[in-house]
Amino acid sequence: MAQSAGDVIVVRGNGGLDGEVCIGGAKNSVLKLMAACLLAEGRHVLANVPDISDVSVMCELLEAMGVSITRTDHCLVIDVPAEINTEAPYHLVERMRASIVVLGPLLARFGAARVALPGGDDFGPRPIDMHLRALESLGATFRTSHGDISGTAEALTGAEIVLEYPSVGATENVLMAAVRAKGRTRIVNPAREPEIGDLVSFLNQMGAKARWAGNGLAIEGVEQLSPAGQHASSPRSTAGGIGTSARTEVGGTPADGDGYRVISDRIETATYLAAVGMCGGSVFLRHAVGDHMTMLIRKLTEMGMHIVADAEGIRATATQRLTSADVATLPYPGLATDYKPFLVAMLTTASGVGIVTENIFTGRFRYIDELRRMGADIRTEGHHAVVRGAERLSGAPVRAHDIRAGAALVVAGLAAEGETEVAGATHIDRGYDDLTGKLAGLGAIITRR
Ligand code: EPU
Repeated sequence: MAQSAGDVIVVRGNGGLDGEVCIGGAKNSVLKLMAACLLAEGRHVLANVPDISDVSVMCELLEAMGVSITRTDHCLVIDVPAEINTEAPYHLVERMRASIVVLGPLLARFGAARVALPGGDDFGPRPIDMHLRALESLGATFRTSHGDISGTAEALTGAEIVLEYPSVGATENVLMAAVRAKGRTRIVNPAREPEIGDLVSFLNQMGAKARWAGNGLAIEGVEQLSPAGQHASSPRSTAGGIGTSARTEVGGTPADGDGYRVISDRIETATYLAAVGMCGGSVFLRHAVGDHMTMLIRKLTEMGMHIVADAEGIRATATQRLTSADVATLPYPGLATDYKPFLVAMLTTASGVGIVTENIFTGRFRYIDELRRMGADIRTEGHHAVVRGAERLSGAPVRAHDIRAGAALVVAGLAAEGETEVAGATHIDRGYDDLTGKLAGLGAIITRR
């Protein structure tokens, strides 16, 4: 297939990185906050919105439903009308499977939703059985026809919902439905990612009554919600999953009242941490929240990086070749599966051998063939990879198959000898706001063509 213009990132190894980079709002939070806006008629304002293509797709999806959106300089003004079209068409859901999170809000507010079923992807199968079972516990019924899932709910009623696995999407969908259900809902074993904490804060600003309680989420349904992000006097939120401490710059309404501020992207942060780890140097990651990525910081410290987090951000320094470590992905607060491509890239040039175990998405090893093309010594066996560190990778033409894998190939290219061409850069655009420009600002030799 012919490559579209601008679909290739060209990067050349150039030694250490130095300077400061600003971390943007979290992709995996903002998409859910946008869906949550469907819960209330009126004008919602979101700030610290990353300029990424997944946000554009979510805008298209909401607009197809009749929502009006104005997007200016990292801000979204979202006007939700009284009546909307409750259908999410395949051509949009197919481009972004996170679209499925409109299901809960639509059922809660309109009692009906028709959403195209997302297919599998490069990670393997991506079922939504837990989303549906949890929503059924609140009283929704579903039927599948012609590739769409249609849900109806005369009235949602609070219930105890036990998630057998802490699925991020299922937690979000049922949380957004439960805030408007009649009575009390308890979600046992919910996902605890910081982005879930941000959604809880956002919903509470809309008037919901949701809180962390013991090993779950307790929600008292309310009849009406109102738009968030416009109340200058609202208390600042303390978003973050269970076990994260209150900080001032995490999600919430800024003091000037110009929108609900989306929390910082911990996966974008991990990308720059990996770049410093592989290339060496010292970089300040402004707005990065150390409390949201404690396990990763511990792992990178074990590998030889020096990382200090404070209220302004994270300073990361690497002065020597990293040492290998074993890595296993787990739901939060464990090491996120989204960090894994970066950790694998780092291990390819660390001294020693690291064993990487993927416990979330069985198919998430596809980029390893691309790293091998750069000289990486990696053997995979089921959901394990054994990575033997080489002194240096060598630049090569490679292809990005998904957002994080693509960014990891760019990071690997920064530390490789010679030139690396990463094709499929539009995958990277789904989740990165100016990766090329930000890395160039740190001294990397990187262009897009
Ligand atoms: N699962 C089921 N049934 C379900 C739901 C999930 O079997 O009904 C399984 C999945 O197949 C997978 C595991 O549970 O094996 C985890 O899925 P989860 O629902 O937790 O993930 P998600 O909501 O689909 C989000 C992020 C992913 C991130 C995962 C895990 C968004 C938009 N996506 O996906 O992020 O990897 O949580 O933390 O929030 C990315 O940003 O590039 C990305 C892929």
